[in-house]
Amino acid sequence: MIAPRNTSPVKGSTVLWIAAGFLLLVFGGLLIAELTPLLFPPQASAQAQQVDDLFKFLLAVGAAIFLLVQGVLVVAVVRFRARRGDRSDGAPMHGNTTLEVVWTLIPAVIVLVITIYSFQVWVNTTAARADEQTVRATGARFVWSFAYNDPVNNITINSKELHTYVGQPVRMEMSTDDSQHAFWIPAMRIKQDLLPGRTTEVRFTPTRAGSYPIVCAELCGSGHGQMRATIVVHPDEATYLSWFDDAVNTALNPPADPVERGRALLAAGVYPCSGCHVLDDLGWQGITGPSLNGVGDRAGRRVPGETAEEYLDRSIYFPGEYLVPGFGNLMPQFQPNDPNAPNYMPPDDHFAIVAYLCTLTASGESACDLDNLERIVSEYR
Ligand code: CUA
Repeated sequence: MIAPRNTSPVKGSTVLWIAAGFLLLVFGGLLIAELTPLLFPPQASAQAQQVDDLFKFLLAVGAAIFLLVQGVLVVAVVRFRARRGDRSDGAPMHGNTTLEVVWTLIPAVIVLVITIYSFQVWVNTTAARADEQTVRATGARFVWSFAYNDPVNNITINSKELHTYVGQPVRMEMSTDDSQHAFWIPAMRIKQDLLPGRTTEVRFTPTRAGSYPIVCAELCGSGHGQMRATIVVHPDEATYLSWFDDAVNTALNPPADPVERGRALLAAGVYPCSGCHVLDDLGWQGITGPSLNGVGDRAGRRVPGETAEEYLDRSIYFPGEYLVPGFGNLMPQFQPNDPNAPNYMPPDDHFAIVAYLCTLTASGESACDLDNLERIVSEYR
């Protein structure tokens, strides 16, 4: 006697439907994973390739699950909808162990694979490289500045742009003067927060020459949207060195004229002024502070009895006492006499910067008495 079979045979057409559905999911997932990266910025670093591959994998898995869930929903709505006049309840159903094991195991395996894969990418992209170049980045509301060590002359080179070259591993050493910021270079596929009181780091190796945007990705105040800078990736070491040597030369031979020197200091981004002020002469477009265009003309008229140089001197060291109507108390106080203060501005720099601001007049003539300015500043020395 043959024992009666207790399973009903699965219909061939059902198997076909499931197979077709599965193929559709795989194909749809791969299609979305291949098409979406067309919207990405160029891959300009060694890290970018790995990050994008991981992202594609996540996209494929996510898209397949999305299509599965939406597909089942559509099939259920169409096939199992209540027919006209059918007011009965659906059949009562209770757990299906096989189904539950399957829908627990598959996601568990997917999550495990993602964990191992992404950990491997993280280890690879953050690993220290031999001969890496360290560049210090400072975030301040609302501007980036970069500093290079010149071991030969034992000086620091400041720049508003980040410079490096193809194939040179870079290690960013980052700190913030005020709130939290996030250093993001979309083309390099790297992003790292800057945290008050801590130094954070991030690494990348450029693989493509060109200029790419650096963006602040952490809401840090009203000028956050303008906190951008540029990374210049030179095609080779020689081109990079010619930029670097120029910068060293400028730093070693500051202009003798204090006005020129003050302008150079501001242009190099040694102080974070460009993040907040408009200044056509240097191409600044900050919005959170008063415009500096023509400030020399206004300086002598703002406070009765105060000369232009006194006004400019004090509004840099004591900005809270010199608020321009319509603007908040956002400017850091640049410390004149404490070299360890986070916003220390040495008296020589201060003198040069004020001397330059004095020349921002309609006529181009200085609005200040520089001898008097020297007397004021000498009190800080
Ligand atoms: Cu700095 Cu947003």
